Formats: sequence, structure tokens, C-alpha cells
Amino acid sequence: MRFLKIIFFFIAFQMTAQQGGMWIPSLLDGMNEDEMQSLGSKLTAQDIYDVNNSSLKDAIGHFNGGCTSEVISPKGLLLTNHHCGFSQIQSHSSLENDYLKDGFWAMSLEEEIPNDGLYVEFIVRIEDVTEAMLAGVTEDMSPREKQSKIDINRNGVVKATQKEDWQGLKIRPFYKGNQYYLFVTERFEDIRLVGAPPSSIGKFGSDTDNWVWPRHTGDFSMFRIYADKNNRPAKYSKDNVPYKPKHFLPVSLDGIEEGDFTMVFGFPGRTNEYLPAVAVEQITQKVNPSNIAIREAALKVIDANMKADDQIRIQYASKQARIANAWKKWIGENLGIEKSGAVAIKRKFEREFTKALKAKGMEAKYGTILPEFDRLYKEFEPVNVKRNNFLEVFFRTNELMQMTFRAYQMEQALAKNPENSKAIASFKSRMERIHKNYNAKVDKGVYELVMPLYSKTIDASIYNKTAFTNMDRTLDLLKGTSAEVLEKLNNDVAYQYAKPLIKEFFTTLEPEFQRINTQINALQTTYITALMKVMPDERYFPDANSTLRVTYGKVNGYAPRDAVYYNPVTYLDGVIEKYVPGDYEFDVPQKLRDLYDAKDYGQYADKNGKLPICFLGTNHTTGGNSGSPAIDAEGNLVGLNFDRVWEGTMSDIYYDPEICRNIMVDLRYVLFIVDKYAGAKRLIDEMKLVHPKK
Ligand code: ARG
Ligand code: GLU
Repeated sequence: MRFLKIIFFFIAFQMTAQQGGMWIPSLLDGMNEDEMQSLGSKLTAQDIYDVNNSSLKDAIGHFNGGCTSEVISPKGLLLTNHHCGFSQIQSHSSLENDYLKDGFWAMSLEEEIPNDGLYVEFIVRIEDVTEAMLAGVTEDMSPREKQSKIDINRNGVVKATQKEDWQGLKIRPFYKGNQYYLFVTERFEDIRLVGAPPSSIGKFGSDTDNWVWPRHTGDFSMFRIYADKNNRPAKYSKDNVPYKPKHFLPVSLDGIEEGDFTMVFGFPGRTNEYLPAVAVEQITQKVNPSNIAIREAALKVIDANMKADDQIRIQYASKQARIANAWKKWIGENLGIEKSGAVAIKRKFEREFTKALKAKGMEAKYGTILPEFDRLYKEFEPVNVKRNNFLEVFFRTNELMQMTFRAYQMEQALAKNPENSKAIASFKSRMERIHKNYNAKVDKGVYELVMPLYSKTIDASIYNKTAFTNMDRTLDLLKGTSAEVLEKLNNDVAYQYAKPLIKEFFTTLEPEFQRINTQINALQTTYITALMKVMPDERYFPDANSTLRVTYGKVNGYAPRDAVYYNPVTYLDGVIEKYVPGDYEFDVPQKLRDLYDAKDYGQYADKNGKLPICFLGTNHTTGGNSGSPAIDAEGNLVGLNFDRVWEGTMSDIYYDPEICRNIMVDLRYVLFIVDKYAGAKRLIDEMKLVHPKK
């Protein structure tokens, strides 16, 4: 009987252990540690996060605020994705030195290239500051009253926190403001490019394979952190030296097999796992489809131009990748929500919640939440969709409209204070940044296809007459007194065209959006409070918010549809299968084909003599987890997270353990490329290679 009980307990654990979640590293003791160990982990909570001793967390850096990276040598060598370092690689590229196309390898410290503005941030410690942040906040306060109380509390917490002067501090809400955590950080600002494979390896399969399994992309690049002589963060200086980390990840040469434990440690950006069904419907049926249509129109023009002209290919590479990435993700998200029946599942859950409210006598207090959501989302829909579309046109796809938007902001600032010389200077530097990678012909084409999806009036002739498409003419426009600048600005045809649209955004769209969104957010906070009170035994993990998290699972394939099963590992053989000579997505470098023909894999082959490329896991990840390490049961690096599977991109809204998988590059492929392909043996030599399975 007792034995049976243990078995039952074990099975129950095995099942819940795969339900996803992104956990706070300082709170793993207990439930998470047990779950991880039941999946095969040998790590303790303290191995992962420790304030007094070095731990895994000391190797994990937030890369430029949007990706994750990890330290893999005692000399501050840093690993992240190719697509995370993409804009740096692009910025050092030219037609003569095309690092995007051919790759780049620094063969000595002296050859490593500084990157203006790039930073990497580590977490020194995490503290629960919920009590102090919510002191004096009561449920009957209005959202505004609550916020001002919280702001006052925040000042108190900041003042009371001990930290060194070179360290930073952040406080972030969790569980929609039901909890608060404080992060003491260290930000390094001298980060140099060390190496990147050619795009035909680092971006192999490009948009066709993006978000798709089976995958064969070597999506990695390498940087190095430099510090001052005291090993502290410092701005770039030629006197800086390689950073000596508190911890760096050893690299396992034994890799993974199906069923192995993996943990992904990084900075997931944003998820929304506790939305009501009505919100999920709005996202998938209204917001996503119109955003998809706008991006599709823009991509049609950009793709065609990039294929026809190498200069444009380099100029628009980053922009195109950014636009295409979310475009494809939203399509997959919609399919996954549909396929998993997420809306119906959420509705069923909401009926259970309502029942539990009744059973516990909490109907009077929380019974209005769900009907309120219905009412608010209905009111929200047209505003939300239109505002999304505005942002898509004015910020993501059309560059001339973005310029007019910035000009409008300059005009507003000058109207308030004509002496505000900063307003003109900041507009000028924005324009310079846009013009660095600008082609008016491409942008005009984008305008012609994108604008009709937002506005009834379109006039492509503005491109021939405006000053903004040319930096010299823009500089002319900015000469003279504020009054003169504003007069010239208001005579510009593109500005005349865009101004009413931008005005509408600021006078009606944005205030309406904020008004309703504030109410929705407040209700969402109450909803989480109610859920945790009424159904306390559910497994709640906080939504991603760009803070450091741990997610764990197993190496595991999946069945995307009836009778089809995807193996969790791909091999170099698959790269060669996909090879299309000269293709812009599926070309394979000669050298890689030669290594394949000779089966010259060195110490990087698996035990069957094959070279692994990518593998799948059940780790719950999202955007921002790009570049995150996949860590084995002993704390060694085995993979580099870079994507999710098409059927499972809806995991930002609804995590289904059947079809949600993250995609990682096998570290053995990374090392093989560095060593055998690039000949950058000096980098391999500074790493610590281990054989945990021997
Ligand atoms: N889908 C991955 C992510 O969300 C990779 C994106 C980069 N690759 C690309 N083809 N755009 O960031
Ligand atoms: N490629 C994504 C990133 O840049 C990771 C994939 C995902 O969204 O899970 O963070």
C-alpha cells in the first residue's frame, strides 16, 4: 500500500513536472527543486542561485536588454545567438568586409571589435520586496491611488537597499502586481565581437525554417566582456582587460539523448498566461490577423529588393529579420491556439473558477471579474486593433512615417519651448540613425502596400517632394530659428500628409487605449489575487517580464499531427539534405560540405559518429530566451536556446505540454564550427570541456 502510494506520488510528479513555467531563481527551494530532481537533475537550488557563493546565475548575462548570453571561459568569453548579435555583425559589415555573408573570427584579443552601445547585465541578487512595496495599498483604492502609493513605497525601498556604487537596481512587479522583486545588477559596457559564422550557417534556413522543426541552424555568435583593471564594469577603453567571471559554464562533449534533463536559464521577455478567454479571442481573431497583413505587405517589397541588390540586402537585413520574425510567429500562434482548443479550455477553467467562487462564498467579492472582462474587452477591441495597426505602420514597417512621427514630437517640444535646442538635435540624430540604412525606393514601395491597410487616403507622390528621404535636405530644413524650422516643416508634403494621422493617434487613439487598458490591467491584478485565493492548489508561475528565470524539462520529440512523430535531434546529414547550391536560404559553404564528406568531426561527433546540430526540449521559453544556455543535470552547457516550434509558439498565452517545444543548437556543433570550420582553436583552448557521462 505504501509502495503504491509512492508510485502514485511519483507518477503525479512526473506529470506535473512537465507543465511548463518560468520560475524565479531565488525561490527554487522545495517544489521546483523536487520537480527538477524527479526529471533527473543533480543540481540543488543553491547550485543554481546563491548570494554568498558563486553559482550558475553568475554566468548568465542579459544581452543588450533583449537576449540572453552566458560566460563560457575564465576570460569572459560570451556565447549568444547569431540573431542576437546580428545588428553588431551587420554594423561592422560592408560590401568589402561582408561578415554577414562570410562570417568573422578574431584570431587574437587585438582583433576583437568593440561595439558602441552594447551591454551585458548580470544579476547580483534578488529580494522579495512585496511587503514594502504594497504597504498601505488596499483593495478599495483606485488604480491611480494604488500606483501613487506604490511609487512612494518604491522610493523607500530604493533608499533602504545596500549596493555598491557601480551596481544598478531594478524593481519589477510579478503576478500582475501581486508581488514585487528587487534586482541588484552589474552592467558591463565594453563588449567586443569575437566570432560569428557565415549566415549560411548562423541563419541557415532563414525565414523558411524560422520557427520550424526539423531545424539545422547554427544560430550562435561569440563576444567577450572587458572590465577595468579591478574587474569592474567600465566604458570602452583600450586599457580594459578580459573579465574574470564569478562563474563560467563548462561545456559537455557528451551532449544529450531523448529523455535527458535540461534546464534553460535566461531572461524571457513577455508572456500572458492568465488572460481570460475573451482576450485570447481578441488577440487571435482581430489583432494578429491585421498585424500579419501589414507585415506581409511590407515583406513583399523588402524581400524582393533584398534579393535583387546586395547593398540593399546588407542595409535591410536586420530590419527584414525583425519584421519577418514576429509575422511568422503570430501565424503559428493563431494555428496553435486553434489546434489546442485554448479558448474552450480557458472557458472551461473560468466555469470552474466561478463554481469555486460560489463554493467558497466569495462570489460577492470576485463574481464580477469575468463579466467585467467581457464588457471591457468589447469596448477595447476597435481601439486596440487600430492602435496596434498604427504602431505597425509608423514604427515597424514604414520609415518615412516614422520620420514624420519623430518630427511631430520635435514640433510639440518646440511649441512648448522654442529655445529647446535639444529637440532639434535629438530629431537630427534619429534621422541620421534611420538614414544609415535607408533606401527611399524600397520605403516608397512599402508605403504603397502598407498604408492602404491603415488609412483611406494615400499619396505616394509625397516621396518625390519631401525633404526627409534625403539627409542633406533634412539638414537644410533644420537650419534657422525654431520658428523657421517649424514653418519649413509644416510646408513639407510628407509632414502635411502624416500630421493629421499622428494627431489622431495622440488625441484619441492613445488616450482611449490607456483609459481602457488601465482598467483591464487593474482587473487582471484582481483576477490573479482571486485565483490564488479561490484555487490555491493550482501551480502558478509568474508571467515573463524580462527578469532572470529558470525553466526546465526534458529532451523530447513531439507529434505535430496524426501519425507523424518528430525526433528530437537533427544531424549534419540533414543540413546536406536541405542544401540548395547558391540559394539565399539553403546554400551550404564549400568547407562545411568538405568536412561532411570527410566525416572530419574530431571530438564533436556523438557516439554513433554523427554530428548533432539541433535538439528539442520541453522547456517553457519565449522571446528573450534567445541565447539562453541549455544546462544538463550537472550544470554543464549542452545547448544554446534559439527558437520554438511552429505548433507551440502559442505558449506565450497557453502552454500545452503535448506540442510546445523549445529549439536549441547542440554545443558540439558550435564547437565544431569554431574549431574545424573557422580554425579558431584559441577559443576552444580557453573553455573547459568535460565528459560527465564517462
Ligand atoms: N524565431 C527566433 C526568435 O524569435 C529566431 C529569429 C531570427 N531568425 C530569423 N530568420 N528572423 O528570435
Ligand atoms: N528567437 C527568440 C528570441 O529571440 C526565442 C524564440 C522564442 O520566442 O521562444 O528570443
